[in-house]
Amino acid sequence: MSSLTITPVAGRIGAEVSGVRLGGDLAGDVVAEIRLALLTHKVIFFRGQDHLDEDSQVEFARLLGELTTAHPTVPALGGNGHILDLDYSRGQKVDRWHTDVTFVDRPPLASVLRAVTVPAAGGDTLWANTVAAYENLPAELRDLLDGLRAVHTNQFDYARLAFAEDPGKAREYAEVFASTVYETAHPVVRVHPETGERAILLGDFARRIAGVPADVSASLIRLVQDQVTQVENTVRWRWAPGDVAVWDNRATQHRVVHDFGDRPRRLHRVTVAGDVPVGVDG
Ligand code: SIN
Repeated sequence: MSSLTITPVAGRIGAEVSGVRLGGDLAGDVVAEIRLALLTHKVIFFRGQDHLDEDSQVEFARLLGELTTAHPTVPALGGNGHILDLDYSRGQKVDRWHTDVTFVDRPPLASVLRAVTVPAAGGDTLWANTVAAYENLPAELRDLLDGLRAVHTNQFDYARLAFAEDPGKAREYAEVFASTVYETAHPVVRVHPETGERAILLGDFARRIAGVPADVSASLIRLVQDQVTQVENTVRWRWAPGDVAVWDNRATQHRVVHDFGDRPRRLHRVTVAGDVPVGVDG
């Protein structure tokens, strides 16, 4: 008998999971339920996990799979090597719809985001269901997208923006990391390796559709992104410190709502390693 309560928070994506204290010591059946909830709802939320720290967040994330380093181009926070410090007081403005780190060959399976400091109002995060987005497209457009690939790159990497207001850090970043440019092509429609669902794989790192003139590519990306981010397709989370969100990076896009000005907002993200996206034709 399950101890978890799973309550959807929007019609197409997102559920709150209660009745669990997250950590690295969860029983196998509880982890299995969490994984199932993740596959079903695409993003799941846990309130009141104030006991977590950097290490126990990592231990919990490890139950979902092998971890990546914090980020391909951003230094990790602290000693365990897996915490990406999303500290918006450094001028970071990651306010575009994206799927995490799609500019590498094997984008993450999932991300585990923990709220450390959040503004009293503002700074919510939105997620969109890229499976529902695909399913709601006209059949003719789905057929077209099934055969396309998109080029994803970090050339304009947001990490550069992250340090924009700290010249010392910006210089350090430019010297050490900015030379690492990633570029890769993925199918525009990926087949989810666990559910078999078809999902749109675009987002802000997708800069062009391969083999298509630039103006057509830009129009097509805009058209599909408009479908992905339709409000009916999204969920919005109002953070409190200690909240944890876990999302399936193979079936979602997300973005912060950057409406909090200079008020402190800091979250820690841990990333679960994924596989090479496979398209409809393999
Ligand atoms: C992210 O883009 O992974 C973080 C989103 C947020 O800060 O709300």
